[in-house]
Amino acid sequence: MTQSYENIVLDKPVAAVQLIRLNRPQAHNALTSALLLELAAALEEIARDDAIAAVVLTGGDKVFAAGADLKEMAALDMVGVLNDERPAIWRRIYQFPKPLIAAVNGFALGGGCELAMHADIIIAGDNAQFGQPEINLGMIPGAGGTQRLIRAVGKSLAMKMVLAGEFINAQEALRAGLVAEVSVPEMTIERAMKLAQSIAQKPALAVKQAKEVLLKAFETDLEAGLQYERKAFTVLAGTEDRNEGINAFLEKRKPKYTGR
Ligand code: CAA
Repeated sequence: MTQSYENIVLDKPVAAVQLIRLNRPQAHNALTSALLLELAAALEEIARDDAIAAVVLTGGDKVFAAGADLKEMAALDMVGVLNDERPAIWRRIYQFPKPLIAAVNGFALGGGCELAMHADIIIAGDNAQFGQPEINLGMIPGAGGTQRLIRAVGKSLAMKMVLAGEFINAQEALRAGLVAEVSVPEMTIERAMKLAQSIAQKPALAVKQAKEVLLKAFETDLEAGLQYERKAFTVLAGTEDRNEGINAFLEKRKPKYTGR
């Protein structure tokens, strides 16, 4: 990494996986614009780095992230919100092309829950609580929560969480499909790293195409999504790794992938 950051910490990469830790413990990792800007910049740098294949994003032991920074929020009037740079920063985070796994222990509230939902996979500690409590502050989720939560957990539960501000715990999040796995809190990051490292071993072009096409399911109707899938499937037929994968299987040997 060439840049240095104040609000996030980047550990030394392990087996092509970069761990990013949110680092504003004094405010329970409340998401200031400065923090989000650093996260977007770090992800963009990682996107360009061929040595990193996947990212794990985590927060603290008790709080993943407590949402938008309410001190910053309080200073914004309607014009301030209209001109807010945050929607553009969130978009940059969403556009990260490599697999992004959130390892969530403790509270993921408001923007914290929305940040977790920007990840491709969420691994939750069994102490995790997910919530969109903005209604208690006279607001609604503003970083995609109304749209991503309903797609992740369905209408009834999303309505309950957003209208009543009620939290769901890790097991409820698992049942609802918001998270992929629940772990003991001490192992959440390790499990997320192992999963990311396993994905990092897969043929990179297929992983990239798979992520892109899966996300289309959120963005398009079925027919358009199926067309994207067929195009990506066809493009991959021209890659060396696809031919190597099939040949290795038929020749009963381990494939050697090159990322080409
Ligand atoms: N913004 C700014 N500061 C925050 C914060 C936030 N979202 N959440 C916590 N803090 C600060 C507190 O003000 C406090 O600071 P001081 O020590 O200076 O008083 C410090 O972090 C510790 O907080 P608590 O004393 O509240 O800690 P707790 O352990 O008792 O509770 C918590 C933890 C349940 C996460 C609680 O802090 C909380 O409910 N936070 C607010 C959650 C929330 O409403 N989030 C939604 C924000 S709006 C949003 O996110 C909009 C959007 O869609 C983008």
